Amino acid sequence: MTALTVGGPRPFVGRIRVPGDKSISHRALMIAALGRQRCTIQGLSDGDDVTHTRLAVEALGARVEDHGSGGVTVSGGLTGASDPIYLGNSGTGIRLLTGLVAGYGFTTTLDGDASIRRRPMDRIIEPLSAMGASVRGSGEGGTLAPLKVQGRTLRGIDYTLPVASAQVKSAVLLAGLRAEGPTTVREPAPTRAHTEEMLADAGVRVECGDGSVTVWPGDVEPPHLIGIPGDPSQAAFWLVGACIAPDSDLTVENVYLGSARGGFVDVLARMGADITVDSDSGDIRARTSELRATHVTADELPGCIDEVPILAVAAAAAEGVTVFEGIAELRVKESDRVAAIIEMLNVLGAESEIDGETLAVSGDGRLGGGTVDSHGDHRMAMAAAIAGAAGSAPVTVEGFEATATSYPGFARDLSRVTGWTP
Ligand code: S3P
Repeated sequence: MTALTVGGPRPFVGRIRVPGDKSISHRALMIAALGRQRCTIQGLSDGDDVTHTRLAVEALGARVEDHGSGGVTVSGGLTGASDPIYLGNSGTGIRLLTGLVAGYGFTTTLDGDASIRRRPMDRIIEPLSAMGASVRGSGEGGTLAPLKVQGRTLRGIDYTLPVASAQVKSAVLLAGLRAEGPTTVREPAPTRAHTEEMLADAGVRVECGDGSVTVWPGDVEPPHLIGIPGDPSQAAFWLVGACIAPDSDLTVENVYLGSARGGFVDVLARMGADITVDSDSGDIRARTSELRATHVTADELPGCIDEVPILAVAAAAAEGVTVFEGIAELRVKESDRVAAIIEMLNVLGAESEIDGETLAVSGDGRLGGGTVDSHGDHRMAMAAAIAGAAGSAPVTVEGFEATATSYPGFARDLSRVTGWTP
């Protein structure tokens, strides 16, 4: 395990680009793999999660050729994989691919690392089984990875998600591409809409209603070129750092600004952050700000679900009690993020309290330091490192290597933005 110590406070300055959006990258590879014509993808995320999805679609029969600087060309067509497919740490990879292969005439085994083997898969097994899929999990109740998917004839369903989850929505929609009749998914709160948007761009009949999406089976004809903008979830780390650290003025360029991904900007703006979004270029600029507490409601949480670790750092650096409602889903992410966030806040000197599904963080305007365990979770590692760089006391991040899951160049970019050297 690699431990890294980051000391501050250091101004966050300049202009930076973050890796291509991770959620869009997974879907671009999968949708391209379903098509018959060649599809070039520019700006693919260079994180380990997306590399696993690339290897997965190759194992399933697609051809993926590199042509430098994050560009690949995919020639689609799935024939099936004889060996188990390993998705590493990626919940998006394993859940979406399970739906994607469920209607094909071959058997696929999907697996991942120790964290993936702990994460709930019943949430996809249940709707996919209702479509006629055969998905057998492991463990008690058969609800954990590895998952064995035996291809079956599927029928469309009308499914109401019990939890707001883009991964479950997407698994069902991708299965719907090979089902008989339309498939509708209804969601309790808006979640990222990449799958429905990208399927529509690939010529699939898709209809979006108020809180519902319907897909019809049919051929997938991906565009010749998919360009992937920067990942807002990665941008959030630098922007929060710039709000907290003195003398900061930082712009993250070309960030994805679509639905259910930019909730953290609204939360920061309510906290008094000096943050502006250029909706033409996708550039987001943040400057040093006096942060104050805010209230994040359960309805808005899915729109900033991956940003809660870094928003918790902002809350610790703000004056007053910041409340995050509806945090239950954070317990089943790459780590138990509720426990990991409370542990991190403790090290940073902020008090936190849990009441049911609500987390309250009491900040006093300054961040303390110490040692934070990433628990193998990329977003916890990056949140803690930003706290070290922006705050006044050094933070040692144990398990820093977890950053490679989504942002292998994070330490390099930390040096670029703050001048910090390891
Ligand atoms: C994702 C959906 C979210 C998010 C994850 C990526 C996606 O998960 O936390 O990092 O790409 O669909 P849930 O669907 O489990 O909320």
